[in-house]
Parts: sequence; C-alpha cells; structure tokens
Amino acid sequence: MSNNTVTITDNRTGKKVDLDILDPTMGSSTIDIRKLHKELGLFTYDPGFQATASCKSDITFIDGDKGILLYRGYPIEQLAEKSGYLETSYLLIYGHLPTPVEYHTFVKTIKNHTMVHEDLKMFFNGFHHDAHPMAIMVGVVGALSAFYHDSLDVNNPRHREISAHRLLAKMPTIAAYSHRRAHGLPLPYPRNDLDFIENFLYMMFSVPSREWSVDPIAVRAMRLIFILHADHEQNASTSTVRLASSSGANPFACISAGIASLWGPAHGGANEAVIRMLEEIGTPDRIPQFIARAKDKDDEYRLMGFGHRVYKNYDPRAKIIRAACNELLETMDSTNTPLFDIARELERIALEDEYFVSRNLYPNVDFYSGIIFKALGMPMNMFTVIFAMARTAGWISQWLEMMDDKEQRIGRPRQIYTGVKMRDYVDLNQR
Ligand code: CMC
Repeated sequence: MSNNTVTITDNRTGKKVDLDILDPTMGSSTIDIRKLHKELGLFTYDPGFQATASCKSDITFIDGDKGILLYRGYPIEQLAEKSGYLETSYLLIYGHLPTPVEYHTFVKTIKNHTMVHEDLKMFFNGFHHDAHPMAIMVGVVGALSAFYHDSLDVNNPRHREISAHRLLAKMPTIAAYSHRRAHGLPLPYPRNDLDFIENFLYMMFSVPSREWSVDPIAVRAMRLIFILHADHEQNASTSTVRLASSSGANPFACISAGIASLWGPAHGGANEAVIRMLEEIGTPDRIPQFIARAKDKDDEYRLMGFGHRVYKNYDPRAKIIRAACNELLETMDSTNTPLFDIARELERIALEDEYFVSRNLYPNVDFYSGIIFKALGMPMNMFTVIFAMARTAGWISQWLEMMDDKEQRIGRPRQIYTGVKMRDYVDLNQR
C-alpha cells in the first residue's frame, strides 16, 4: 500500500478499500472516491459540495483560510492594480499573460464581435416593460444559440473559441440593452473606439440628444469590479455552467444557465440585496434591530453582503474593493451619504460583534460592490447583471477547460433515497 492512499473500512462487513489521494499543486489533497461504490457498494453524501471536488482545474486557486485568490497563479492584488479586464480575460482563457501582439489581436477580435444580430434586438421588445434585466439576460443569452449556428459544434475547438469570443464581446451589449428597454431608450450600437468598460458605460448611459463623455472615476471603479469578479473557481454559477455543458449542450445555453444560477440572492444577487437591505434599515438607529434579527436562530433573516462559503478569514477581493469604495465615497455628494453611513456602521458593528467575529462573517465583495454601484448611479437591478458580465470570462474559461478534459463525463450526482419503499398501484375507485 502506498503512502498516498487512505483506507476505508466498512465496519458492518470488515471489507476495506484503499483510495488514492490526489495532490494538487496548491491546496488540500483530495481522496479519489471513484472506485468506492464498485468496491464497497457505497456512495458519498455531501449536499452543497462542501468537501467534494467536481473537477481538476488549472484556472483559479483560492485559499479561504489565508484569504488568497490567484488567477492562473497571479495574485488578485497584482491583477487588480496592474491589469485590465480584457487582459485578465485573456489570462483566464489562454493560461498566460498575452504578449503585446497577442493582446492587441485579442482586443481587436473581441471588438469585432460586440454587435448583436439585428433580429436579436427584437427580443427586447417581447419582454414585459418592467422585466428584471437578469430575466432578459437569461432569455437573450440563451437565444444567441438560435443566431450563431456557425460556431455551435462543441467538438470543434475553433467553434468553441469563436463562441467564447462572441459571449465575452456581446455580453455588455445585451446587458445595456436589457436596461435601456425598461426605460424606453433607443438601443445604441457599440462603439469600438472606446475600451471594453467605457463602451459598456456608453451603451448604458448615453442619449442621442446629448454629448456623452467618459467618467474616469466610474471607469476605474468598474475596471476593478470586473477584474475582481472575473472568476472564482467552482462556485454555484460556474458549476452550473459545467454541469449544463457536461451533456454537450451549446455554450450560449450553458452560460444562460450560469446567469440564472448567479441571480440568486445567496450568490450574485447579493450586491442588489445589500442596497435593498440598507434601504430597509433606513436610519442608523434601526441597525441594532436588524443585527438582532440576523443573530436570531428562529429568524431566517441574514445580513446581505456578509459571510462566504470559502473565505472563512477574509475575502481578499473585499479588502481591495473596500479601499476603492472608501475612496469613491470621499468624493461623494453629501446628499447620498445616509445609505453609506448605515453601511459603514453596519460594517463596524459586524466586525466587532461576537456573533459575526466567531463565525468569520466578514463583509464580502458584494457588500462593497453594491455600495460602489449605488454611488456611481448604476440602476439597482443592473448590479447582478454587471457581475454576470464580469464572470463571463470565468464561465467561458472553465467551459473551455472542461471541454478539453478527458476525465470529464456527464454530471450525474447520486442521491440518498428517503421516499416510500416499493408498493403496488391502487385503482382510482378503490382509493
Ligand atoms: N448573516 C447572519 N448570519 C449568517 C450569515 C449572514 N449573512 N451568513 C452566515 N451566517 C451564519 C449562519 O446562520 C450559521 O450560523 P450557525 O453556525 O449558528 O448555524 C453560520 O453563520 C455559518 O453559515 P452557513 O450558512 O453554514 O454558511 P455557508 O457557507 O453555507 O453560506 C453564504 C455562505 C454566503 C451563502 C452565507 O454567508 C450568506 O447567506 N450570506 C449572505 C448572502 C451573501 O452576501 N452572498 C454573497 C456571497 S459572496 C459572492 C459570491 O461568491 O457569490
């Protein structure tokens, strides 16, 4: 028996099995349980995948205890300071920082794909006028598969790459249109003379009757948010993308599934939920009653923007974005500050309160990104949409990696059946 195994004994039968321990380049070793069922007839139970690796991945590394986040080995702090969103996307997709030629070619390629098919624009009119933009995103991104048939062969690496480029490039256009539709605003064409973030802000906020100019503060804050949200290994939405594509489904449908998963308030919907919570609190004197609710075992209420499944010490993204958030709030007009005063007070209390400290419930990245979006005047229902745009780089990188992984098979979890045992059908007139 090698040292790199763990022996499992079924105490009911005395039967044993040696399972291999797989060593990663960094992080916790993992028991390979694939032969467990064959040898012992046992499955494993791990709802929410708290201790189960679903894949091998070279893309992103997280050490939740030490607060480390690396994209392809590069610390998030360095990328946040020095890189741009498209360069970070290139890094995530291709595994290395681009040379100048690779970078310019990539930017040019992405810009070539920023427009959407004219017929796709009609979809936006079909939604109810007050549709949430995330609902529109789920529908329209999925609908891309009805338009771009020339890149849908998932077994063809070139098709996969073109689809990946299309998704990255068209996401800001679709996101901005989902906002403009609700406000009766015309749908502008993307402007490829602007950079990725500038173009998104242009498509969001420009109106034909007025000159539009770039706000450098908004661009800087958004660039940071995009880089910090670009990937986060096997979170719920990324795992959704992987699971959906494990059947060979097309990438547009799979990214649409990822968007749906991200929408939930426990995941990407948290940034919007943070502002709703601050508005509900209303004034700083009401904070204690909300803190009391969050601590009450019989109340399901939770403080939005606090806690994280993986970061049990601190969220490195929150540390970076907190500084940017404070900097931005310093420049704010004082009429906007009551909400932010509540946020600061909530942060202070949570960082000192025994309940939050003992459970390592620190403010997470969404706590600060929600505040930044609010400070920039971004409509609240667009917060999660922006997260989705940023995470597209991660989703497509993980999808591309999975499609090349010979060990991947269709995702098919097991269950512990807890229903009634086999019984006979009773005729209707005898029930
Ligand atoms: N407010 C109050 N109590 C909390 C909170 C919170 N936000 N989060 C966790 N707890 C408590 C929870 O009640 C439990 O207490 P006890 O041990 O006494 O039963 C303990 O902390 C551990 O919580 P958990 O539910 O086991 O933790 P989890 O890892 O399953 O959940 C989470 C992580 C992020 C879903 C959760 O902390 C939460 O719901 N936070 C609020 C929503 C939020 O901000 N989500 C954004 C996450 S960051 C962005 C992203 O990656 O998508």
